[in-house]
Amino acid sequence: MQIIDGKKISQEIKDEVKEEVAQLKAEGKDIALAVIQVGADPASSVYVRNKKRACEYVGIESVSYELPEETTQEELMAIVDKCNKDPKINGILVQLPLPKHLDEDEVLLAIDPKKDVDGFHPVSVGNMVIGEKGFLPCTPAGVIQLLKRSGVEIDGKECVVVGRSNIVGKPMAMLLLRENGTVTICHSHTKDLKEVCKRADILVVAIGKPKFIDDSYVKDGAVVIDVGIHRNENNKLCGDVDYDKVAPKTTAITPVPGGVGPMTIAMLMKNCVESKKLFGE
Ligand code: GUN
Repeated sequence: MQIIDGKKISQEIKDEVKEEVAQLKAEGKDIALAVIQVGADPASSVYVRNKKRACEYVGIESVSYELPEETTQEELMAIVDKCNKDPKINGILVQLPLPKHLDEDEVLLAIDPKKDVDGFHPVSVGNMVIGEKGFLPCTPAGVIQLLKRSGVEIDGKECVVVGRSNIVGKPMAMLLLRENGTVTICHSHTKDLKEVCKRADILVVAIGKPKFIDDSYVKDGAVVIDVGIHRNENNKLCGDVDYDKVAPKTTAITPVPGGVGPMTIAMLMKNCVESKKLFGE
């Protein structure tokens, strides 16, 4: 059984990005990412801090907007507009979730697709679906990198994705399809979830329920990717997969922490370079 090391693979990617950023800098091309956070949700603050740290590591400038909880839709839209128009800004990231009084869809739609390094704009989603160049959403793109760089073949494999969120489940299914996997998406209305999961050669779990998937959902020899992250009753991190029960049945599995988590930020850095290369002046 192979433990897929997301920390190591994400470090490799960040080092590749760092080199590319240095090359671009040598040509006089600097990269800057606007990082916008509204309110002080503790989990979001950790993510935002880690994103800014990664920027520093690879040599990308981060321009930080830490806005109060009471920020209005108009104020937030004005900041997005300012970043859209600023030629020095190559990528715009609005940390989700936004406070309840704000309209997330309207904000995401306002981001210039040329600066949409999260890959959430409908234009980016459309390009991903038809296989055109564009920004891929960071977490599912990170999962594809984990599989490829661990030597897991996707072509022709039965891939089952549990979860259908816009950020993970749906794009995950689409990216596995692009790699010629045979893809099934499961969700809360799926009949006989266990039987469908047991068909999977590659099982990707993103349901947001701690340790939901145990060994009875997993075929012998499957590859299991766990996108979930939670704190259990002892304040320890765990995923959507019951790792101790499932790992012995697999040929490869991602741990939590240290699996998918660090990949998201590495792929964000990759997208920032991509934005400069595709659309930078
Ligand atoms: N919230 C949870 N995941 C993400 C992500 O990948 N990007 C942003 N902007 N917000 C998130």
